[in-house]
Amino acid sequence: MTAYEPWNAERASQIIAEHAALEGATLPIMHAMQEAFGHVPDAAVPMIADALNLSRAEIHGCLTFYHDFRRQPAGRHVVKLCRAEACQSVGADALHADIKRELNVDWHETTADGEVTIEPVFCLGLCTCGPAALIDGKPVGALDVGKLRAALGRSH
Ligand code: FES
Repeated sequence: MTAYEPWNAERASQIIAEHAALEGATLPIMHAMQEAFGHVPDAAVPMIADALNLSRAEIHGCLTFYHDFRRQPAGRHVVKLCRAEACQSVGADALHADIKRELNVDWHETTADGEVTIEPVFCLGLCTCGPAALIDGKPVGALDVGKLRAALGRSH
């Protein structure tokens, strides 16, 4: 579980100012915002566009192109599930379908109770012990539904 600051336009302006001079500042700004707030809300788009003298469409395009950027706050727990080949070969696809069904979410979504966000990743370097995941930043191998429940403190 990661604690993020609540969205704050003043703090966002500060982040923009800290990175605006970098070449290709859009991505570093968005990464820094996501690190601070846990997401990059739509309210950030005009702020970044104005600061970098780019169009809102360009910034919005960048924000929506990269799936790593969240536009809404994540759940209290973030589960990144590996969808790459080695994990697929040991049943990751079926496991992911079970997990999504159990949590009633699709990729990039958060459970209705705001507890868990599910995100895909492509190889975590744990290929010999798949299906692999990062649960709140901690690597987990040989994942199954029971192990995920235990890690999240959920009974179902
Ligand atoms: S393929 Fe899943 S960790 Fe490498």
